[in-house]
Amino acid sequence: MSTSFTMIGGEGPDSYQKHSKWQGGLLEAAKEKINEAISTKLDIDFTSNLVNIADFGCSTGPNTFKAVQTIIDAVEHKYQKENNYEEIEFQVFFNDSSNNDFNTLFKTLPQARRYYTAGVPGSFFGSVLPKRTLHVGVSSYSLHFVSTVPKEIKDHDSQVWNKDIHCTGLSKEVVKAYLDQYKIDMGSYLNARAQELLSGGLLLLLGSCLPNGVQMSETLNGMMLDCIGSALNDMAEKGLIDQEKLDTFKLPIYVAYASELKQTIEDNGFYTIERFDIISNENEEIPIDEEFLTVSFKVTVGGIVASQFGQDAMEKTFEVVKIKTQEILPQLANAKPEMQYLIVLRRI
Ligand SMILES: C[S@@+](CC[C@H](N)C(=O)[O-])C[C@H]1O[C@@H](n2cnc3c(N)ncnc32)[C@H](O)[C@@H]1O
Repeated sequence: MSTSFTMIGGEGPDSYQKHSKWQGGLLEAAKEKINEAISTKLDIDFTSNLVNIADFGCSTGPNTFKAVQTIIDAVEHKYQKENNYEEIEFQVFFNDSSNNDFNTLFKTLPQARRYYTAGVPGSFFGSVLPKRTLHVGVSSYSLHFVSTVPKEIKDHDSQVWNKDIHCTGLSKEVVKAYLDQYKIDMGSYLNARAQELLSGGLLLLLGSCLPNGVQMSETLNGMMLDCIGSALNDMAEKGLIDQEKLDTFKLPIYVAYASELKQTIEDNGFYTIERFDIISNENEEIPIDEEFLTVSFKVTVGGIVASQFGQDAMEKTFEVVKIKTQEILPQLANAKPEMQYLIVLRRI
């Protein structure tokens, strides 16, 4: 059974919509490179002046609007420059899991947009669009999810049972179980997009990966996931959540090493890798303190915690997370950095 992991919806103070500036920073930082990649690498046979764009793992916005607008501006710029520009029409498909808050997404669409829209709910590990219809696809911060938590690590009686909520610990077997699932899922994602994309179309992938030699537990994300795990343990000790439920609760996340990501793409064989860039996503306006970190993780991980333990328990857990985050701020300040990437793939 697949595990659904959506962001907290709505437009309220604890929503992804209000707290996803950091993720949006990568789209800003990658804008020029995306523009250049579309200008030089997109090679579609233009028969109908209709360009189809899709965002896989769009959440509620506003980052998805930034992603599609960046692509649209770049496509218009390219075809204006090449002098074969009649009026191009754009159709944008927003994809996410069916329990994503699509209502908020459509309610907050930019007023001044010049594109048609449609929601295409469903897992991006399978097809969500008809074959050979897509010109440019994008996924931003969506590919560190796996479709399901490997079952052996959830089983208390298994030798590879993972006592933590994630694979930040040093058990090689647990990490391998996650990696095996990641390779299957990433392969399915690339196969599905390969069916949907037209030859010469582009797939833009953005997100975080691990530099070689860095353990997840040494990064800020790993430390924060451990902090959430520790807060959940405290909750179970106080009897506020069920210990058995906690023992089987694992996050369906795998942050790959850059080399694993590259290898998975090369093994797939449907694409040429046009760019594999490491980009700095340092937003100095965002203060890295307990307020920011707690709410950032609440809007991303809070949904799955609430679906397992209930809304009340989730709220209490994140109160504990905030206290624990404040205590570990010096360690967090010395966390080893992850790497942010922009990968541009061209469908062969
Ligand atoms: C961290 S959010 C990123 C949202 C947005 N792209 C951004 O850059 O801010 C990841 C999104 O991926 C979606 N997602 C995860 N697994 C998915 C799947 N199998 N199929 C479709 N969407 C998925 C989640 O629901 C979530 O909305």
